[in-house]
Amino acid sequence: MCGIFGYIGEKKDAGEIVIEGLKKLEYRGYDSWGVAMQTGMGMKLKKDIGKISGVSAKDVSDVSSLAIAHSRWATHGGVTKENAHPHLSQDGTIAVVHNGIIENYEELKKELMNKGHTFASQTDTEVIPHLMEEYRKEGMSLQDALRTACGRFEGRYAILAFDATDHTLVAARTGSPLIVGIGKGEYFIASDIPAFLEHTRNVHYLDDGEMVWTDGKKIHFSSIETGEEKQKRTINISWKAEDAEKGDFEHFMMKEIMDQKESINRAVHQDDKEILRVAKEIETCLGCILSACGTAGKVCMAADYFFSVVAHRHVNYVASSEFKIYHHFLKPESLLIVVSQSGETADVLEAMKVAKEAGSKVLAIVNVEGSSIYRAADFALLINAGPERAVASTKAATGQMAVLLLIAYAVAGKLNEGRTLLLETGAKINDMLNPRYIEHIKGIAQKIHTHENLYIIGKSWNYPMALESAIKIQEVSYVHAEGFAAGELKHGPIALIEEGTPCIALMGNDEMTADMLSNIMELKARGALIIGVSPERYDSFDFWIKVPDSGPAQPIVNIIPIQILAYFLAVLRGKDPDMPRNLAKSVTVK
Ligand code: AGP
Repeated sequence: MCGIFGYIGEKKDAGEIVIEGLKKLEYRGYDSWGVAMQTGMGMKLKKDIGKISGVSAKDVSDVSSLAIAHSRWATHGGVTKENAHPHLSQDGTIAVVHNGIIENYEELKKELMNKGHTFASQTDTEVIPHLMEEYRKEGMSLQDALRTACGRFEGRYAILAFDATDHTLVAARTGSPLIVGIGKGEYFIASDIPAFLEHTRNVHYLDDGEMVWTDGKKIHFSSIETGEEKQKRTINISWKAEDAEKGDFEHFMMKEIMDQKESINRAVHQDDKEILRVAKEIETCLGCILSACGTAGKVCMAADYFFSVVAHRHVNYVASSEFKIYHHFLKPESLLIVVSQSGETADVLEAMKVAKEAGSKVLAIVNVEGSSIYRAADFALLINAGPERAVASTKAATGQMAVLLLIAYAVAGKLNEGRTLLLETGAKINDMLNPRYIEHIKGIAQKIHTHENLYIIGKSWNYPMALESAIKIQEVSYVHAEGFAAGELKHGPIALIEEGTPCIALMGNDEMTADMLSNIMELKARGALIIGVSPERYDSFDFWIKVPDSGPAQPIVNIIPIQILAYFLAVLRGKDPDMPRNLAKSVTVK
């Protein structure tokens, strides 16, 4: 969580560059913002509560060629101007922005207060510049001061810092992402690529336990622990700047929903050799576990059904935040498959660590190439969805399902059949996402947007999609939505149904239809308003959202109209679907 971005180079508008770049990282946190610039008059600091998207970069910037900026997702200390980053040292010369948590900050704070330091915020971050200042007083260079300070920290962090009296930008990483962008006569350091994508596509990825410092001309990397200098590989990333823009759309969420006209095809575009290698690993391992968080977790639950139905193979899903206890079952012959859009989710990285400690292999299915999860895995597949900037995961979720379904077909020895099904599904989604279809769903949203409770049911692979539908609706519209396995209704949840309660039924053209229709009748008998998402229309539906008949790819198709419905529920209720309250796109804390 939190976006950080720093610039050093020949340009004189560093403040503007970091603020504009940070607007592209706002999905990481958006309760307050701040920027520190090195100017001819010394340190210049501006910060405030609220979203950085509303800030005019020109108005807050000064002539400067070194600046750092931050947009915050609060952990320690409330949303106040004092708690917004950057934080300064006691003498005001060192500025720091930080993503992560310094777990032992209270102990460090006491130590510093005994030395006469005073603190202006309730954050854990503020101890960083104060501690660096102490080491600077001992005559250390800025990079040595940061390195020595990092040696005292417990927890996870990505830190950017500079000293008003020294034209050097320093950064360090343990547990939270940092990427260096290499420009001509300039360097960028950010927590995610979109911040500097319009300037460069050449990057160095910082690994855990590494730090970097640059005067804008030369760059140095070293281990935090030993100080030993390192060479880093330059990687050219394939994303284009316009992929990370919303174009004519009002919100990224709708843009990314519409991207699904093509993103399924891109997800299916995999190297056969790699897919067959993965299939072989699944066939030969002794126990295969899928793990992820949130939406990616619901994708894994759908994949359980893919492997069962298509490949007759038993694969288990465990939420990454619950994974630790599973170490009892892990062996060197086990296989863990993790799924993540960002590739930075802390709970997923923790699950991978547990599996690695047991000697098990780890396969990662991710969207962000070069991300921490991508690099920590034994092997990785990309879903090629392009940047996903809305907090709500849409095209990444369907891309992940497409890759997992393709793998299930490969395990069944039917890779070509799987690819054909998915390409056909991609074409059907392209047809489905037309303006009339979107208007139809908007019309349904208009009828139900004042309801505070909404339920979604499904069977088989539509059950995890009912759970995912609930996440989508909850996170952007704040409507209380819950998903259930349709057959479970009569065991308790049906007590919630009242006259007019909207209930969504997710269906396919399959052997579940008869049971689903019975469950719908049970709901209807209690007054529910039924919204059927199905290839066929049934009399019990009050509203019908038609979806193409897609066989095992049905969950991929069925979730899309719910994404659209969630979007319109949010907009009609006056909420910002791209930046829901209390959330951040990339959850890098446990
Ligand atoms: C859902 O729309 C969410 N944004 C969230 O549940 C997300 O899927 C989860 O935090 C996992 O993120 P990841 O895919 O980046 O690992």
